[in-house]
Amino acid sequence: MYSSEADIELADFAPHLIEWQRTHGRHDLPWQRSRDPYRIWLSEIMLQQTRVSTVIPYYLRFLKRFPNIHELASASIDDVMALWSGLGYYARARNLYQCAQRIVQQYGGAFPKTIEQLVLLPGIGRSTAAAISAFAFGVCSPILDGNVKRVLARMFGIDGFPGGKQVETAMWNLAESLLPTASKKPHNICSCDSALVEPIVAYTQGLMDLGATLCVRSNPNCDCCPFMHVCVAHLTGRQCELPVARPKKAMPTRQTVLLILRSANWVLLEKRASSGIWGGLWSLPNAPDVDKLAARAAQLSGTPVALTPLAPLTHTFTHFRLEIEIRLAQLSDELRATVSNVYADTTAWVQLDAIGEYGLPAPVRKILDMLS
Ligand code: ADE
Repeated sequence: MYSSEADIELADFAPHLIEWQRTHGRHDLPWQRSRDPYRIWLSEIMLQQTRVSTVIPYYLRFLKRFPNIHELASASIDDVMALWSGLGYYARARNLYQCAQRIVQQYGGAFPKTIEQLVLLPGIGRSTAAAISAFAFGVCSPILDGNVKRVLARMFGIDGFPGGKQVETAMWNLAESLLPTASKKPHNICSCDSALVEPIVAYTQGLMDLGATLCVRSNPNCDCCPFMHVCVAHLTGRQCELPVARPKKAMPTRQTVLLILRSANWVLLEKRASSGIWGGLWSLPNAPDVDKLAARAAQLSGTPVALTPLAPLTHTFTHFRLEIEIRLAQLSDELRATVSNVYADTTAWVQLDAIGEYGLPAPVRKILDMLS
């Protein structure tokens, strides 16, 4: 258990957090111990709405293939989407790619250092800009992501849904007022590497670490928290109620039917438009209902084809549920060879053992994995 004096003045929040981070926080994540803005930016974008353990293998693979901003900016969007495939929230990958191109064109490949410049780039909001500029350049500015909102809502007993404008503005102001200042030095500076960098680095990481390791959504580990004696939620037993949940709306359901047009070991993939769900990814041809799918299958095959139903599945997005029906159509080798590929830019016959080279949405990958 972390030992702290019983009464932490709220004015001392930053030094206590810094001290706690240096002794109890995380120091060996793959994007730490680096001041390279490219590596830091990539990690912050991947970590938006995605947990550390999910991100790490994607992050390492991505860096290996695109070790710097120039390699990324000159890649094809298809290669970028393929490496992102499975990580979800694909707008992040499209923005990442556009952002790399802008940084190369506009800044000669050198990341801008100020929050004001960073927030003008695709995919970088205020909190991400603050994290990048703190970790890469030591700029002192507040972050406010979902984890930090939870920490602040509990510590300060903030009522109201933190996604609402008013509460969010109040939280930004609070986050700003809690930042470390030159006069608020941490009590004991330890000799680990992180003590050699600016306090804002340990402070920013400390907020993330507190939210991810102790002040978690359910069953927070209050006994080990350096702020247990001042935390409003802990003192009033309101950890389960804070932060206040998003007002409930029924989650809408949408339907789609996917077509597996298969010929021996080949399957027809279709590239989706760049906006909308799974934008820019390769997927299976789809239609809103089975009749329309039959027409589409006939069009793609050049002849009417029999459709066999396979087991349906449901995929949940942030704001809606997608019920997916699946139909399989088998084409002979001859027919596949004679089907003129009128949609050459947006469709491709792909061998099942080569689908890993394509950026596919997770449920489509799952469906195709069951075929091979
Ligand atoms: N979540 C967002 N940014 C993070 C970081 N740098 N380390 C760990 N978790 C994070």
